[in-house]
Amino acid sequence: MKVLLIGGGGREHALCWKLKRSPSVSEVVCAPGNPGIAQDARCVSVGAEDIQGLLQLARDEQPQLIVVGPEVPLVMGLADQLRDEGFAVYGPNQAAAELEGSKSFAKQLMAEAGVPTAKFETHTDPDLAETCIRNWGAPIVVKASGLAAGKGVIVADDVDTAIAAARDMLAGNSFGDAGSQVVIEECLIGEEASCLFIVSGDVILPLDSSQDHKALLDGDKGPNTGGMGAYSPAPCITPDISEIVLETIARPIIAALKRRGAEFIGTLYAGIMLTENGPKTLEFNVRFGDPECQPLMQRLQSDLGEVLLAAAEKRLDGIQLAWDARTSLCVVVTSDGYPGAFEKGQTIGGIADVEAAGATVFHAGTAQQNGVIVNSGGRVLGVTALGEDVRSAQKTAYAALKKLDWPGCFYRKDIGYRAIAREEN
Ligand code: AMP
Ligand code: GLY
Repeated sequence: MKVLLIGGGGREHALCWKLKRSPSVSEVVCAPGNPGIAQDARCVSVGAEDIQGLLQLARDEQPQLIVVGPEVPLVMGLADQLRDEGFAVYGPNQAAAELEGSKSFAKQLMAEAGVPTAKFETHTDPDLAETCIRNWGAPIVVKASGLAAGKGVIVADDVDTAIAAARDMLAGNSFGDAGSQVVIEECLIGEEASCLFIVSGDVILPLDSSQDHKALLDGDKGPNTGGMGAYSPAPCITPDISEIVLETIARPIIAALKRRGAEFIGTLYAGIMLTENGPKTLEFNVRFGDPECQPLMQRLQSDLGEVLLAAAEKRLDGIQLAWDARTSLCVVVTSDGYPGAFEKGQTIGGIADVEAAGATVFHAGTAQQNGVIVNSGGRVLGVTALGEDVRSAQKTAYAALKKLDWPGCFYRKDIGYRAIAREEN
């Protein structure tokens, strides 16, 4: 079959790479794609947020399956419009995508469904937000309610930082409209992991576990980013915990959405904190995680095209996923300066050498200029390697990275450290 994939980041390169290796898939068309994706797909320069352009592209291409990678077009209602025209779509409708599009909606739905999560209040008035923060004390978490590319969360160690963050968001300074409502949350303590599910109506198929590193610097210090690295499986997610997450988090939230008339078809991503009192939900996303998708796709052995088409056509029941038993670990290479300002257009050499050293390189913010690859975004490459355990996958990934010829890059040196500590205990 022909698949139309929407998006152009590292997640979409991993999806494209796996789709192209799926026996059921003969051709992948990607909008807009990137130079890495172009190795496996025909890229068409229609932006992932150009809804009218994407509808026209679907009409022209007549794909048997459309996979929507990023959250923004889902929150804009792309899947609804494609379904209205009769296409098989993997990705939720707008009403279900609100789970990611509005943190305040997600928290209300969690409360309604009894899904374990941090205590919270939502505010639009800065003085009331300040009162809440003073009453609860630090540490405390302040979140912009709308979409902020993973950067709209401040985990504050003191009350003044939290108040300043809430006021700044509500004044529209830091995240525009996304910050016109803030969610203030109790700070949860524990280890984080990502639990993803392929969902098709009432059928919920768990993917293997993964864990990402959201903070910029080694030791999980510094500001939050879109994700600096990830690995799968995450040893902290035991089979028992996985079952608890499925039964107390995924099933009830999907059922609660359905009660509101929003059927879910697509990826449910639950960000989990493993607290002393069990797994609690940090956030929901309605698409594959980036960079979690990169190690997950490297390990998935099933035909991805067949699974996503079955989900889109509501015949997922009975399908099982097969996984490589090894660990996959992805180190994200960013432009130096990210998540702040950085210089674009720097030449990136050595990608083929990194691959020759045993890693798969997924492109994110790259572009091709005069025949060379340059950086065009903050998160640029996902250097992903397999190993018998986390330590050996980490070793291969970092050894391969030494071959990268890009002086202006930045990456964390410790991706996987928590899991390695666990392995070696
Ligand atoms: P979110 O986008 O809501 O997942 O938040 C981004 C990151 O902020 C999470 O991955 C956590 O590291 C951190 N975070 C979010 N909410 C909380 C919370 N209630 N307690 C502690 N850390 C949090
Ligand atoms: N890795 C975090 C995310 O995709 O939201």
